Amino acid sequence: MRFKTSVSKLKNDDVIIRGEPLSSLIETLSFSDAIFLLLAGRKPKATESSVFSALLVAIVDHGMGTTSSLAARFVMSGGNPLNAAVGGGILALGDYHGGAIENAMLQLKSLSGEEGKSEEVAAQYVERAVRKKETIFGYGHKVYKEKDPRTATLLALCQKLGYTSPFIDLATQIETALEKAKGRKICLNIDGLIAAILLEMSFLPSLGKGIFIIGRAPGLVAQAVEEQDTERPVRRLDESEIEYLPDSDP
Ligand SMILES: CC(C)(COP(=O)(O)OP(=O)(O)OC[C@H]1O[C@@H](n2cnc3c(N)ncnc32)[C@H](O)[C@@H]1OP(=O)(O)O)[C@@H](O)C(=O)NCCC(=O)NCCS
Repeated sequence: MRFKTSVSKLKNDDVIIRGEPLSSLIETLSFSDAIFLLLAGRKPKATESSVFSALLVAIVDHGMGTTSSLAARFVMSGGNPLNAAVGGGILALGDYHGGAIENAMLQLKSLSGEEGKSEEVAAQYVERAVRKKETIFGYGHKVYKEKDPRTATLLALCQKLGYTSPFIDLATQIETALEKAKGRKICLNIDGLIAAILLEMSFLPSLGKGIFIIGRAPGLVAQAVEEQDTERPVRRLDESEIEYLPDSDP
């Protein structure tokens, strides 16, 4: 059985990763640059390096109330090992939590090929999606209704660094069009902005969820270990928080 790979290979007491010897990468690359090299197949340019590092920081944790943090804590509280708890948190990442990056990349990519000014492309797309009641991935948030502060900070950093992109412009124009169409703000969330940035950096959409997993894994480890070290086992909902529906009463 033969396996083919362009990711990495052991060679002469070293590991060659995307053509670069690990022995020299250890001395020269930051962790986020190494992730970029591994996933994009090339080293980032200076500005890309700063923006990519910042976007990973932006998603490193989002409080214990998120779906994946709670899942990790619940699995841990049942008395399972750390890998099961972190794995449980990762399994909880889906299209509406963390996993929106991939779909947002696919949506933005499909629109970037359309003819016309980007404001018009955005407006037509939103009109179509709202009419068909389709989800526009990368917009809206359970907690942030007016603006996602992480998006605002990352956007400001991109502007400060002069990191511009037609994908970022399109993503913000969709936010404007969505507000007009719905009559209220549905903000560009952090997944949506990350999707636009990753497209500009030439990452494949199929990497979107993986990049979120990489960014959030440290948060899940921190949440799960804290649960294990500081909480008594077996979390459960208080009965007062459970509404028992009368028509299912035996
Ligand atoms: C995150 C999300 C689940 C929050 O849902 P929510 O709290 O129910 O959203 P809200 O209460 O603020 O808004 C509900 C309304 O806005 C619409 N809406 C919200 N986000 C929308 C989106 N991304 N695309 C289209 N319509 C959206 C809903 O259809 C609903 O419309 P209606 O009142 O006409 O029925 C939702 O915005 C969503 O699915 N977003 C896309 C997935 C995503 O990007 N997730 C990453 C989050 S960081």
